[in-house]
Amino acid sequence: MDVEALERAALTAVAAAASSDEIEAVRVEYLGRKSALPLALREVRDAETGRTLNDAKRRIEAAVGERADELERAELDRRLAEERVDVTLPVRAYARGRLHLITQIRREVEDVFLGLGYRVVDGREVESTHYNFDGLNFPAGHPARSHLASLFLDEQTLLRTETSPSQIRTMEGRQPPVYIVSLGRVYRRDTPDATHVPIFHQVEGLAVDEGITLADLKGTLDFLLRKLFGEQRRTEFRTHYFPFTEPSIEAYVSCHVCDGAGCPVCRHSGWIEVGGAGMVDPKLFEFVGYDPERYTGFAFGWGLERIAMLRHEFPDLRELWRNDLRFTRQF
Ligand code: PHE
Repeated sequence: MDVEALERAALTAVAAAASSDEIEAVRVEYLGRKSALPLALREVRDAETGRTLNDAKRRIEAAVGERADELERAELDRRLAEERVDVTLPVRAYARGRLHLITQIRREVEDVFLGLGYRVVDGREVESTHYNFDGLNFPAGHPARSHLASLFLDEQTLLRTETSPSQIRTMEGRQPPVYIVSLGRVYRRDTPDATHVPIFHQVEGLAVDEGITLADLKGTLDFLLRKLFGEQRRTEFRTHYFPFTEPSIEAYVSCHVCDGAGCPVCRHSGWIEVGGAGMVDPKLFEFVGYDPERYTGFAFGWGLERIAMLRHEFPDLRELWRNDLRFTRQF
């Protein structure tokens, strides 16, 4: 066998190998158990030939090993280059959820009152006429007691029409001082239109203590209005009527569109109504067993949807229920 020719052929093949697979094929061809050189080595009878063959085999092995390492490194480099993360590429935006506008406002209002030292209490959405009407001093025959106005489950049970029953439930459970807010859904038998939905949300506030006056009520509502609508908004209170407050007032904020000058949004009055309030009627104190000579209190009840509309100036309340992402994403 021509060892030199074999070695030359092997080294040429090694140099030509362009990948790990190819160099492996070269290794098998020239060094594999069934290839010419190892077979010849096994048959060798004299030391001289043996040394010649062994030297050639070692040189081929060295060349194959070197080339294999080289190719492996090159392939690794290529892979690293290909798989490199380009940190300068803009990230792909992913959709993130958010709280519904009404939930945001609810939490905001809760935060304002927690900051004032109030407690947040839960009420009941399924309520008895006892708490929804009797305890709140609604006279027999009041229109709200009608099946046409409210959603009854049976004669004594209805979906609460306001959050005010939580006033009674709170006072029943403890003695003054009481400083609470209660937020949640209320239900009225209304046909949905741009300004009415049969389910909406209110925040009820109640403060009962010694020496509470109408000035405390106005100061508190003023504070809330400025927190919700900004420091520059002015507030105004007008007399009103509710069965459970005396005197009763309705709170107004200066119109966000015309700042009080008068425009179509505020029906040219300069003011927009935000909700009811008043001094707790002493009859309620008698109902829950508070001493009306000793304690006075104020209460208020505002719609969260109304706050949302006033703040964000959208024209149709029903948007809050449609859950069209183009709408809800804006808040
Ligand atoms: N419950 C009244 C309403 O729904 C609002 C209100 C609450 C008024 C508390 C006075 C005191 O219109």
